[in-house]
Formats: sequence, structure tokens, C-alpha cells
Amino acid sequence: MSDLPPRTAALPPSPFVRLNALLGAPPPGLVPVALSVGEPQGPVPSFVAEIIAREAAGFAKYPPIQGTDALRGAIAAWLTRRYALAPGAIDPETMVLPLNGTREGLFMATFAVVPERKAGGRPAVLLPNPFYSAYPAGALASGAEPVYVNALKETGFLPDFAALDEATLTRTAAIFIASPSNPEGAVADLAYWKGLFELSDRHGFVILADECYSEIYPGETPPPGALQAAQALGRSFERLLVFNSLSKRSGLAGLRSGFVAGDARLIAAYRDLRSNAGPQLSGPLQSVSAHAWGDEAHVEANRAVYRANMKIAAEELGNRTWFRLPEAGFFLWLETGAGEETALRLWRRAALRVVPGAYLANAAGIGSRPGNPGTDFIRVALVNGPETTRAALKSLASVLTGPGT
Ligand SMILES: Cc1ncc(COP(=O)(O)O)c(C=O)c1O
Repeated sequence: MSDLPPRTAALPPSPFVRLNALLGAPPPGLVPVALSVGEPQGPVPSFVAEIIAREAAGFAKYPPIQGTDALRGAIAAWLTRRYALAPGAIDPETMVLPLNGTREGLFMATFAVVPERKAGGRPAVLLPNPFYSAYPAGALASGAEPVYVNALKETGFLPDFAALDEATLTRTAAIFIASPSNPEGAVADLAYWKGLFELSDRHGFVILADECYSEIYPGETPPPGALQAAQALGRSFERLLVFNSLSKRSGLAGLRSGFVAGDARLIAAYRDLRSNAGPQLSGPLQSVSAHAWGDEAHVEANRAVYRANMKIAAEELGNRTWFRLPEAGFFLWLETGAGEETALRLWRRAALRVVPGAYLANAAGIGSRPGNPGTDFIRVALVNGPETTRAALKSLASVLTGPGT
């Protein structure tokens, strides 16, 4: 029995620690290709170094936790442009808060919005299953019960929260939802948002909408966002917080820059919490971030690479029964069967590093099919350039038709 509190003892094991243990050393004579981590491999935009060099003196100062006016303004302007929001719908003073990357922001948000008790019991926080690891960490650290809701093919690879029993929904204080989702690349449409908003109205829970893959999509139409859906449905942003980041959009995962926006009452509470305990984004990096939210040229260049990669994936794997082109994002979620064995085979035969789907999900998931919804899948991150991607996918295709498949 562990004497550690559940907020750490009950955390799911890291998929990457498990992956290292599964794969071990690289196979002799082969050069490993990392298709495991969702870390963009493109160049850092040139404005990053220029702004840091110009503003380096700012590293001597404590930066404002609420963000500079320039950064909050740039984020509000981007949201308004990207989602065709009504002018003034996002007040940069009261409805935007910069984050030190969305990982910590998603984790810490639960501290601000989850009460100690809900409907006389331990509050529940609902998560998609598979999930991003900060969601259960936040739920557990704030004393809530994480409830894993399976995202299955039959539910469009998104969780069907409305199918949960009434007692759980009554105790629900917050839900995490990612659209576009990781790993499936599924996108919530207006009907999905409508259902979720109605559920939130009925049960009074907060929606924490993770949109960090919003700028990466293979087609011409950008995925809709939660603020956009709320506006289209004639709603306010009450009980709605959206999170976005420069990590994927701008290929700046190491900058650690994101934001949360939405319900002004929740943002005020979150800002108060962060004023005491939140990590600021340093001044020069706030300037870099303001510039990045204001510039689409580098984002379009990044998107062109991901589009080319998805086209290559369709060319190389499109005739396989287990292939599915994601609606957005840069992951392939492939139902090859026996995800763990498949990952091991790809590693041993071709030095391709992919993640078994089961490592990204929880076996205690609830849904029309209970159990771990990732067991039969592998996740393949297409974050390299097109040349590496084509060679890797050719090699993946040949391993998965060879003997033993
Ligand atoms: C679904 C999802 N949300 C959030 C994040 C966190 O991104 P960051 O902390 O870099 O903003 C990631 C990173 O991989 C992710 O996959």
C-alpha cells in the first residue's frame, strides 16, 4: 500500500516512461525515427531570436502574471479574427490570461473552478479517454474524481458525456474536452458543442476546452472552436474556458506560451490564484508571443508541412483497412490491432518509435464498450519533414504487411 496521497499515487503512468521500458535500446544497425512525441520539428521563426535580443534587459524584471497589454490584446485580436467573433466579444482586460504553456494552465485551472464538494459528494471531473495527462493530474490534485469517458469510433472519436448516469453528471464540476483531439484528431462540430453546452447548463459544470491543435488541419476549412460555437448558438461564454498555445501552431513547444480565455468571472478567479502561485511568462517571451499571435505567415508555412505529411500518409497507407485520415492535428491514430505488439515490431524491425494506444488511455474507461479504448491502436506523430515522413511511412507499411502481421 502506498502512503502517497491519491493526487500522486493514482496518477496514470507516463506513456513515455512505459514506452522506454517496452522498447529498450535501439535495434543494432538502424537509425531510430521518433514518431512518438508531438513535438514539431520545423525551424524556429526568425522573429523569436530578434525580439529576445532586442528585449533581453526584460529578463531582469518580474513579469506581470496577468500578461502585458500587448500580449492580451494580440490574443484577443487573434481569437476575434480566427473565430469571426463579434467585435468586443473578447475583452482583453477581463477575458484573457497568458499561461506558461497550456500543460500547466490546464492542470492548474481545476484548482480555480472545482469546489470541495458538489451535490453533497466528491466532485467529478470528466475526461476524454484517451486523454492528455494534465487532465487527470489536475482532477486528482484538486480532490476530484477523474471519470474517463471513452472516445470510440461509434461516437466519432469524441467522448459521449451525455451518456453518463445522472448521479455522476450531478457531481460533475468540470469537464475537459480537446478539439481537435489528441490522439484521434477528431473535431467537435456545432451539434456536439450544443449538446455539451446544454449538459453544462443542466448540471452547472465548467467546460475546459483544449484547442491547442486548432491551427493544424489537412483541408481548407479550419476546425471550429468552442467560443465560435457559443456565439453561433447565441450564448454567452458563461462556464466556458478555452485554452490554446504556441507550441503546435508556431512550432514553439519550448517557448512555453499559451493562454486561457472566456468567462470573465472564472478568469478573475483564476488570475487571483495565479497571482499567488502561478508561473509567469518572462517579459521578452511575452513580446515574442504577442508577435506570434499577430503573425499568420509562419503558421501557414507550418501548416503546409503538416498538410504535405497527411497527403503522404494517405498515399502510403490509404489502402489499409486500419488507416484513417484525421480531421485535424498531426497524429495518425491507426487501428492496427494489438497496439503494444505492433509498436514493438515497428521498433525492432525498422527502428520506428510509435506509442501503443493503450498507453494514452485508461482501462477504467466508461462507454458503450468499456475498457481501454486504445488497446488496438498505435499513435504516429507526423512532426518531421515530408521526406523523413515518407520514408518512415513506407517502412511502417512494409513492416505491417510482412510476416507476423
Ligand atoms: C492535447 C494537448 N493539450 C495540451 C498540450 C500542452 O501543450 P503546451 O503545454 O505545450 O501548450 C498538449 C501537448 O502535447 C496536448 O497534446
